[in-house]
Amino acid sequence: MKDLSVTAKYTAHCWRFGKFERAELLDTDEAKFIFDATNAVLDLTSGKAAPSLPHSLVQRHKIIDTLLTEWLRGEGERGQVLEIASGLSARGVRFSANPDVDYTEVDLPSVIGRKRELLARTPEGQEAALRPNLRFVSGDLIHLELAPLVDPERPVFLIGEGLFMYLEADAQRTLWQRLSSLCTQPRSALAFDLVPSCEEPPTSRAGNILDLGLRLVTGGRTFAKDERTRQELSAELMEAGFDSVATIDPAENLERWNLPHTRVPTKQLVFHATGGGERA
Ligand SMILES: C[S@@+](CC[C@H](N)C(=O)[O-])C[C@H]1O[C@@H](n2cnc3c(N)ncnc32)[C@H](O)[C@@H]1O
Repeated sequence: MKDLSVTAKYTAHCWRFGKFERAELLDTDEAKFIFDATNAVLDLTSGKAAPSLPHSLVQRHKIIDTLLTEWLRGEGERGQVLEIASGLSARGVRFSANPDVDYTEVDLPSVIGRKRELLARTPEGQEAALRPNLRFVSGDLIHLELAPLVDPERPVFLIGEGLFMYLEADAQRTLWQRLSSLCTQPRSALAFDLVPSCEEPPTSRAGNILDLGLRLVTGGRTFAKDERTRQELSAELMEAGFDSVATIDPAENLERWNLPHTRVPTKQLVFHATGGGERA
């Protein structure tokens, strides 16, 4: 799989733009440059009605944080979390501040190495990196065995943010099956974002430019596109072994997710699946 780590730099600064706690620990001038330059190109080439990429990403990040917070509350503020493709997100740093939360992050070796370097810059980052309940695992998700990363005797909250839009349908299904097999206990869950391509605005100049830019910096990787609807994607998650699937569209209920009202349009969809034999 070609390297998508540049996308983690964009989001690293996006989380700071969205005022998420501890995002500054993983932000850099380079990330800010990538964020600003990408947004400038999008602004120049999109129409006024086009969804704002940074605001849409902030919505997904906040929704996943809220789902995790609520899940942990249900677990008595204890629990194990496995976040795949965690990139330079500070979510693991935030949630592992509670020593009763076991948090494991997986990403490519180059990204995990960079994450460690960035955390080493500050005393706060160093403290987080040394926590026994925050583990960083380097590996390619395609080959990495995930089962050893999870205690099968406990429910697990799985997160895959900013990942599935780069995977073709077969790769998505395979990963969903592998993730559902980790949900051996009731109350296990998976949260991830994926806007079905058929819900995206028709390919615009901005979309084409983003696509081309991504291909250039990642050596050919870009967004995977197909015609499956959100209902079909939910059905595939059930076929992969999950027990229930809910879709969360922030456009429908900003208050429920405590999302800020923005003056710009957004487009986002988060899937929340439960596994382990119990419905949410
Ligand atoms: C858009 S970033 C999202 C990062 C983070 N989840 C966030 O939202 O800030 C995509 C991430 O997926 C990771 N990734 C993509 N393919 C991967 C693979 N095969 N194995 C591990 N990580 C992968 C990239 O390295 C990158 O960090």
